[in-house]
Order: sequence, then structure tokens, then C-alpha cells
Amino acid sequence: MNVLDFYQKKIAGEKISVITCYDYTSARLVANTSVDCVLIGDSAAMTMHGFKDTLSATLPMMCFHTAAVSRGIGNKWIIADMPFLSYRKSLSNSVSAAQSLMQAGAHAIKLECAAGNIRLIRHLTESGIPVMGHLGLTPQCINVLGGYKVQGTREESAARLKKDALLLQEAGCFSIVLECVPSTLAKDITQALNIPTIGIGAGPDTDGQVLVFQDLLGLNSDFKPKFAKSFVNGYEQLKNGIESYVKSIKTGEFPNDEHCYGH
Ligand code: KIV
Repeated sequence: MNVLDFYQKKIAGEKISVITCYDYTSARLVANTSVDCVLIGDSAAMTMHGFKDTLSATLPMMCFHTAAVSRGIGNKWIIADMPFLSYRKSLSNSVSAAQSLMQAGAHAIKLECAAGNIRLIRHLTESGIPVMGHLGLTPQCINVLGGYKVQGTREESAARLKKDALLLQEAGCFSIVLECVPSTLAKDITQALNIPTIGIGAGPDTDGQVLVFQDLLGLNSDFKPKFAKSFVNGYEQLKNGIESYVKSIKTGEFPNDEHCYGH
């Protein structure tokens, strides 16, 4: 998968599968699947570091995760999130931040919102950095949005979102994530664009889907957003594995001859 495949898959009507990934071990696992590409999401601040939102993601944190994934992901394509405010201070600082992520192993970067980012997106794509947009529920704006709420539910906000999507395409984005928007709006935007949309909480009619690694594998026992589907009950299965380990120590079943060195 590379940037050209994104366009080709849209033309061919072939759905694009994206998963977030944050570390080497998970990258080795994902590398051996048919998933199309990985996103080093700034959700790493929450899933890997336990922060309450993505505002705590920093550039060194994102570079650290990007580098770890790039060592394990084989030839899969890596998109890395530009963290909170790393692309809002000046053109020069933003380009340096994108450079750090690319040099850590990313093949493309993602940033949230259209307003104020159009010049930067144009500059980055002209400089050899593919840019993915992100519209709808943009978690870095959570304090302005007033919470994790579905976006574009009213005529006016839906029209604004569609206009932003066209602006991002015009500026050179190769794809756009649509997060938590009504399915009908996501369909309308997807049909209006030549570049593929990747949905999360945006219904079935986007050109592809992205899910957070921990949500997909059911690793969170206490957090299940409406749009996320766990394809395996990872929490229970892994917990049972650890309990079996503890039990086999106590019963003396582990280690046995198989795991011991002779002389
Ligand atoms: O940070 C992230 O994981 C994301 C996805 C939810 C799209 O941006």
C-alpha cells in the first residue's frame, strides 16, 4: 500500500482497512495480517500512556511510537499523527515537526481540521510529505467541541464539514478520516471527493475504516464506544492466560522438564 493505492482502491471500490499501532510487538503482529496500513494515532497518549485525552501527546512521544512500529511493521505503510499544537505555531515549526515524524519512519502524516491548516498542507505535500486530513470529531479540539459528540448533525455544520473536506482535497490531502459523523453525511462527503475517506463512527459508506488496536481486540473491559466493534474478547483471553500462568506456578506444573536446562 502506498499513496497511489489509496486513489486506486477508491476508484476500484475496494475498501481500505486501517488499524492504529503503537509498539514493536503489535507491529510484528499487524505486519503478518492483510490490513492495508497503520496509523500511529495520538490516541497513543490514552491507550499507551493512560492520559485522559490526546492533548498530552507530544512530538517526542509520537516519534518514539512511530520508530518502534517502523522497526516491526515490515513494508506496510505508516501514517503518523501530528500531536496537539505541533502544527499550529508557525510554518517552520510545523514543517520541522512533520520532518521528525517522517525521519522516525512515517510515510505520511495526519493532522486535524481544515481551518488554519490549508497553507501548511499545501506546503507539506509540495515538500514530499503526504498528508491525511481528519474532520468531524477532532479529539484535539475536545475543549472547544464541548465533549466527544457526533459532529455535523445540523444542516449548517454538515455543510461546513463538506466544505472543509473539499478544501482539504484541494490543498492536496491524499485521504481524510471522518470521525463520528452521521452515516448519511459521510456518504455524501465520500461521493463528493476523489480522495478516499476513512471512517470511524461514520457508517458503512466511507472508502475505508480505521479502528483503535485495543478496541478491535477487545482489550478494554471498561470502555466501549458505540462505533467500535471488538473482533475478539482479548481482555478475557489474555487475563485467563495470565491466571493459567499463576495457577501453574502454584501447582508446580510450570516449569517442567521441557523448560529446564540439564547439565
Ligand atoms: O489517534 C487516533 O487513533 C485517531 C483515529 C481514531 C482516527 O486519530
